[in-house]
Amino acid sequence: METPAVAAGEKLGVVDGRPSPLSKMVVPVFDRSVRYGLGVFETVGVHAGRPFLLGQHARRLVQGLGRLGLASSLDPRTLVRWGQRAVELASVQEGVLRILATAGDDGALRPRVLAWAMEEPPTASEAFERGLRASIHPLRRGPASPLSGTKSLAYADCYLARWQANARGFDEAILCSSEGRIAEGTASNVFIVEGSRLVTPPLSEGILPGVTRAFILEVARGVSLEPMEEPIEMARLMRSSEPYLMSTQLGLALLVAVADKMIAEGSPGPVTHTLRRSYRGIGRGEYADSAATAGWRVERGMDIT
Ligand SMILES: Cc1ncc(COP(=O)(O)O)c(C=O)c1O
Repeated sequence: METPAVAAGEKLGVVDGRPSPLSKMVVPVFDRSVRYGLGVFETVGVHAGRPFLLGQHARRLVQGLGRLGLASSLDPRTLVRWGQRAVELASVQEGVLRILATAGDDGALRPRVLAWAMEEPPTASEAFERGLRASIHPLRRGPASPLSGTKSLAYADCYLARWQANARGFDEAILCSSEGRIAEGTASNVFIVEGSRLVTPPLSEGILPGVTRAFILEVARGVSLEPMEEPIEMARLMRSSEPYLMSTQLGLALLVAVADKMIAEGSPGPVTHTLRRSYRGIGRGEYADSAATAGWRVERGMDIT
């Protein structure tokens, strides 16, 4: 693939498979993503120069387009190639790869796909170390929403919920289902530990099928935890021993308080240590053959057969 000439210091991304300077990666006003937020996006972790679980992200992106009525000939393999190319072009070692697929112009069902990667320090912020504090936000999740389960470009509701939580001194906002049970964070999935059970709300609560969520459910089996998908009431969350928020960007973050109530010890317990060790290790290509990976390898993120 030819690489265009670029000004010194200018970074490159990929548009519909072709390298492009970041400054030229634009979406025209005619694209329906501009007016309606019609389209989907992915944020993929990059560790040691490799996009982590890229195949899973690519698959979710294609499924998301289908759920928004934007089914196209775009396939996950192509997206994996373009994503890898974006990481190589930007020479990113530790950071994120972003992939965005728009609806395309009026009348033409052809998504535009833009992919670019950036160095970003791992989330080892003070908040991450001390544990996260979340508020409860009135925004509800539910299968009735046509956007349910998609990582839609129409993201302003979650963005604002998080912004409001941050303005009140919280790190994240928890959203409930239409029945008032725990659904997910604005950009994270929720897990709790009960003895040897690792429990997370089912997808039927209208939540995003998080790539980290699926990965951790799988890893749990390899470290003698019993993964469960069950509705979680607020009281159950508050009684749990090690509640988490999980996402590509957070990894596994301990949730230490909801509203102003502390949960459990408020510090990482044994399950947190075990899961984090597996998660980080696998992300960096370590433990590829250990029981904890339960067949999940870094390569599997790219190999989507
Ligand atoms: C609403 C929502 N739930 C869950 C997640 C976690 O998903 P993933 O693990 O794929 O990053 C995200 C990620 O941004 C999200 O926006």
